[in-house]
Amino acid sequence: MGSPSRARGTSSQLIEKYKRYVSGSQAFKYFPMIVGKALNARIWDTDGREYIDFLSSAATYNVGHSNREVLEAVKTQLDKFIHYCLYLYHEPVVELAELLAGITPGSFEKKVAFGLSGGDANDAALKAALVYTRRRVIVSFDYSYHGTTALDIAVSGSFSPELRGLMPFRDVYFAEYPDTYRCIGGVEDPEECGELYLSRFEELLKKIGGSNVAAIILEPVQGDGGVLIPPANFIKGVRKMASEHGIVLIDDEVQTGMGRTGRLFAIEHYSVEPDLMVLGKALGGGMPVSAVVGRSDIMDSAPPQSFFATSAAHAASVAAAIAVVKYVTRNNLHERAREMGEYALKRLNELKEKYEVVGDVRGLGLMIGVDIVVDKKSKRPDRAKALKIIWRAWEKGLVMMTYGKYGNVLRIAPPLTIPREDLDKGIDIIEESVKDVLEGKVPDEVVDKMTAWK
Ligand SMILES: Cc1ncc(COP(=O)(O)O)c(C=O)c1O
Repeated sequence: MGSPSRARGTSSQLIEKYKRYVSGSQAFKYFPMIVGKALNARIWDTDGREYIDFLSSAATYNVGHSNREVLEAVKTQLDKFIHYCLYLYHEPVVELAELLAGITPGSFEKKVAFGLSGGDANDAALKAALVYTRRRVIVSFDYSYHGTTALDIAVSGSFSPELRGLMPFRDVYFAEYPDTYRCIGGVEDPEECGELYLSRFEELLKKIGGSNVAAIILEPVQGDGGVLIPPANFIKGVRKMASEHGIVLIDDEVQTGMGRTGRLFAIEHYSVEPDLMVLGKALGGGMPVSAVVGRSDIMDSAPPQSFFATSAAHAASVAAAIAVVKYVTRNNLHERAREMGEYALKRLNELKEKYEVVGDVRGLGLMIGVDIVVDKKSKRPDRAKALKIIWRAWEKGLVMMTYGKYGNVLRIAPPLTIPREDLDKGIDIIEESVKDVLEGKVPDEVVDKMTAWK
């Protein structure tokens, strides 16, 4: 494991060049680290330092980095042809569509449309709902994240109202997303908390007029909001209201899908069937592919070409996705995520007992958040401390980032294939980093070295 405090030599030159030529609007930047190699739950920088990966390229590598079956599937496809756009047919797209229709919840007839990113698939799902219902309004949630097309930004509560206001689509309402740790009114009982948010949701829908709403777009666990896990009564209630008003319920599983939360899809935790489900990230095992899976009548309602992109359903990426689906289902990777997640939660809860700044530990499967606070009583978010912890962790050989509506949540999302020893080592590093920060060993300046969520 390495202990870099700054990028050196050729690394820093490359980073300078990046800053000169790559748009600053592209992404946040956490560490001055250049990825050189990756295998399962480990990555190496170009200076050869080794790290445990708790980020998985933002929850992409559920099946591990450089998964052999994914690599073989891509190579086999590349030897035949790289891709052909969907003006003609190809075999992989049919196989993947059939597989996805089979494994997603809902006993109704389904169809699938493909894209290249979670964001473009959300865009397609929203378009489908607008066209199908012939309505204009979309209901989303505070601090949600759905991608970066203009439509995605307009419906993503995590972007600023200023930025959203500059997008061409304005018919959006944001409902409050349940936060059981900082529940409105200080309510502590999760079920009561769920009811409270649900009644506010109902009020909002009444105000808008349910029959004006085309879609409700919902993350079954809000990732970028800070791993917020809504009570089941809330999700069930939203499903019921959507059905009563003929609203399309879009389940954004871009971050939660493919076993991440201990079920194949997070919505299954609530025994709810969405009308459309959106997949991305982990679906391609590192290759760019996304999908909307849902009711055939909705999926077929927009005219041909509405979801077209020349590289959509890219044959090599789709071949990777077929391998991912088979790998996850054959190995019951979602169950492994559940077991490893329970173990990680147990260990992280021990840290919560020991350290005043560890306010809350929450998660489903291997989608875990550690909420860093000033003190347990006030629950006041401490973003600066969280950033110092991840910086120290990086110096000690663990890649992890922060997110959440206050930017103070440690994001733990390793590959679902992570060996137990790596999980343990990563959690050990978190504890050492918390200690170092509390003992004043991490300078305040590191906070300004990162551009981070919030
Ligand atoms: C819930 C959710 N939806 C959509 C997206 C966008 O996916 P992509 O970055 O592949 O466009 C993300 C990405 O973080 C996400 O977490």
